[in-house]
Amino acid sequence: MPSHAYINNKFVSFKNAKIHIEDRGLQFADSVYEVIAVLNGNLIDLDFHLKRLRYSLKELKISYKFNKLDFKNIFHKLLGKNRISNGIIYLQITRGVQYREHKYKNKLIPTLIIYSRNKKFNLPGKNFKGVNTITFEDLRWKRRDIKTVNLLPNIIAANKAKQKNAYEAILLQDGKVTEGTSSNIWIIKKNNLITHPANSDILKGVTRTSLLKIIKKTSLKLVEKSFTHKQLLEADEVFLTSSGSFITPILKIDKKKINKGKIGNITLKLAKMYTTSCTNG
Ligand code: PDD
Repeated sequence: MPSHAYINNKFVSFKNAKIHIEDRGLQFADSVYEVIAVLNGNLIDLDFHLKRLRYSLKELKISYKFNKLDFKNIFHKLLGKNRISNGIIYLQITRGVQYREHKYKNKLIPTLIIYSRNKKFNLPGKNFKGVNTITFEDLRWKRRDIKTVNLLPNIIAANKAKQKNAYEAILLQDGKVTEGTSSNIWIIKKNNLITHPANSDILKGVTRTSLLKIIKKTSLKLVEKSFTHKQLLEADEVFLTSSGSFITPILKIDKKKINKGKIGNITLKLAKMYTTSCTNG
C-alpha cells in the first residue's frame, strides 16, 4: 500500500485519504481523471496527459486552473514519499461538494485527488508478453473523448473479460471496433497500421498520440479509420496501447488466434521504439 496521497493541497496518509460523501465525483461521476505512467522515475508523456486533462475539464465546464510545474512537483514528491520508481500516478478532479442535486452550482471548489501505485510494466525483452482478449458490445455514452470516471460500461466489459481469463475486452459498435475498455486497439494488415480515428467514439489515448509520432519514422502506412470485427480477426497482428500497458501484443481474440498466437515482428519493433522514446524522454 502507498503511504501517502495528495488531497486538496495537502499530502495526507493514504489510510486517511478521504473525500466528502456529497462529492459530485462520488454521486454522479461528475469528475475527470488521468493515469500517468512512471518509468524509472520519469513521468511518461506528461504534456499530453495535461493537455487532455485541460480538454476534459473544459468540455465538462469544471473550472480548475493548474500549472504543469506545480503538478510536476507534487508528482515527484509523492513518488518520493511512496518510494515508487515504476508505477502510475492517478489524478482525479471532481466538480466538488454540493447537496445532492443534478444541477450544479457555479463556483464549486473542485476536489483534487492524486496518488501513486507501484506497477510492473510489460516491456519488450525477455518477459514481454502477449495477451488474450474477448469482444464485447460497446455500451458507453456518446462522449468517450472526455476522460471521465463514468466507467460502468467499461467495468462490465472488463469483468466479462476477467471471467474468460482474458486481459482486455475489445468493444464493438455496429460491427466495428471502437477501442478497449481501457486501451486503444490497433491492427496491422500488410504494411498498413489501422486504428480508430480520434473522435467522440473513443478516448484519444496519450500512448496512441506518442505512437503516431513514432510511426512517422517507419515505412508503415498509418490509416486512421474504423475497422470491422472481421478485419480485426483477419489482421496479421493486433495490439493495444495504454499508459498502463504501453504497447501490448494481442495473441487471441475470443477463440481466434492472431499471428498463430505469437508476438508479431512489427508489434515488437514498435514496442521497442516506444520504450526507447520513453527512456530518452
Ligand atoms: N485508460 N481508451 C480508454 C477507454 C481508456 O480508459 C484508456 C486509458 C485508453 C488509453 O489511453 P492512454 O494511452 O492515454 O492511457 C484508451 C487508463 C490507463 C485507465 O483508465 O486506467
